[in-house]
Amino acid sequence: MKKPQVRLGAFLSVPGNHLAGWRHPDAAPECDMDFAWYMRLTQMAERYLYDTIFFQDTVAVAGSDALKAGDLTRTRLSRIVKLEPTATLAALAVGTSRIGLIATATTTFNEPYNIARRFATIDHISGGRCGWNLVTSQIEDEAGNFGLDTHVDHALRYERAIEFYEVVSGLWDSWAPDAFLRDKESGVWFDVERMHFLDHKGKHFACRGPLNVSPTPQGRPIVAQAGSSEPGKELAARTADVVFTAQTELAAAQEFYADVKGRTAKYGRIPDDIKIMPGITPVIGGTMAEAQRKYDELQALLPDEVALAALARFTRGIDIFSYPLHGPMPELPEANSAKSRQALIMRMAKAGNLSLIQTARAVSAAQGHRVLVGPPEYIADEIETWVTQGGADGFNIICNYYPGPFVTFSETVIPELQRRGLFRTEYEGATLRENLGLRAPPSRWDQATE
Ligand SMILES: Cc1cc2nc3c(=O)[nH]c(=O)nc-3n(C[C@H](O)[C@H](O)[C@H](O)COP(=O)(O)O)c2cc1C
Repeated sequence: MKKPQVRLGAFLSVPGNHLAGWRHPDAAPECDMDFAWYMRLTQMAERYLYDTIFFQDTVAVAGSDALKAGDLTRTRLSRIVKLEPTATLAALAVGTSRIGLIATATTTFNEPYNIARRFATIDHISGGRCGWNLVTSQIEDEAGNFGLDTHVDHALRYERAIEFYEVVSGLWDSWAPDAFLRDKESGVWFDVERMHFLDHKGKHFACRGPLNVSPTPQGRPIVAQAGSSEPGKELAARTADVVFTAQTELAAAQEFYADVKGRTAKYGRIPDDIKIMPGITPVIGGTMAEAQRKYDELQALLPDEVALAALARFTRGIDIFSYPLHGPMPELPEANSAKSRQALIMRMAKAGNLSLIQTARAVSAAQGHRVLVGPPEYIADEIETWVTQGGADGFNIICNYYPGPFVTFSETVIPELQRRGLFRTEYEGATLRENLGLRAPPSRWDQATE
């Protein structure tokens, strides 16, 4: 029987996902704003046959409220500035030819027409390798940049996200694939019968359409989704081709996997229409002891107050700094921003019986994602276990800093997965959709036009 094929995403969390990663002697801390680094890392990911690269995004400087209030701890956190990801994808498309290109854009602080047009354009530029990570904005600082004093309520954000997706996907279906005749002889540019007005009128949006971009090479760009709360899972089942998630234990990951895939039927979809990809942060050494030493070295670069400042992002509503460092992790009021991430942190603290500072330091190491410390064979074993036991279809590789850990994972774990028959040795298709093994999306006009 053919073994399941592992999907791999290079989650380029530059200059590093570990909060002190940028301080590592081998790190390139300038790679958050240096496009040459983005290109080098993406071309490397393509050489190693990753399905896709991925950029997360926020439309604010994280922690800007705290900075305004004079909290200078924030000046020690990296990932404060970044290149706008869709413009970056377009530039990366030109220097690559096979790898997928996924970037985040929020439904909370955008208009659907602009987003539909931007991602459709990148799908054309890249020859069908583009994806949109649809998020509902996880950091509260964003509200202040868009005329609001407080963040939009979680339920309302999801309500808007569903309608946003309906408009975007509708606009992507504005034209039948053969609508544009460009017929010099007859002088007819397009067939009006093959054009569709969307005429959407909903609670949050009114949009007439059509989109002023023709059908894209993938039919529609890939849609990724990364919310794990109840409405997040429902939205994923309804809209997502790829689901990014933070999962630290196999049993919980299996439950999430079965839950999201189990919801697809009511939207006329099948479980295999969604590829579920949790994040993992590899810390690789020749032996378990060497890998552990590397992890300890990194953690030693992280001051306690920086770890606490990072945890404070998930603890709005209580003053985390007023609690004893070595006391138990305090109970948190339910978050309005990253609900599922907050729940995961609390589960992790309870399961490990962690103190406040232990929790903060564990979260800083991978922002709630699973850290795998060990030799390449051990990392490959864990990947194999999760994909063969219904915990994941693949993983997003999230590195503590760049480029070292990314190079090491690519050079050691990928060949090991290939030896085991779990990962491709060449790209299967020309588009991201084909490489992910996904079906072509049905156009809402198929029946009307055939
Ligand atoms: C792997 C991963 C990546 C994410 N990337 C982003 C991001 O770039 N920007 C953002 O605003 N939210 C991001 N999120 C958050 C979710 O998309 C979602 O907006 C947030 O978690 C709130 O939804 P939830 O309560 O359903 O989890 C990410 C979540 C995960 C698991």
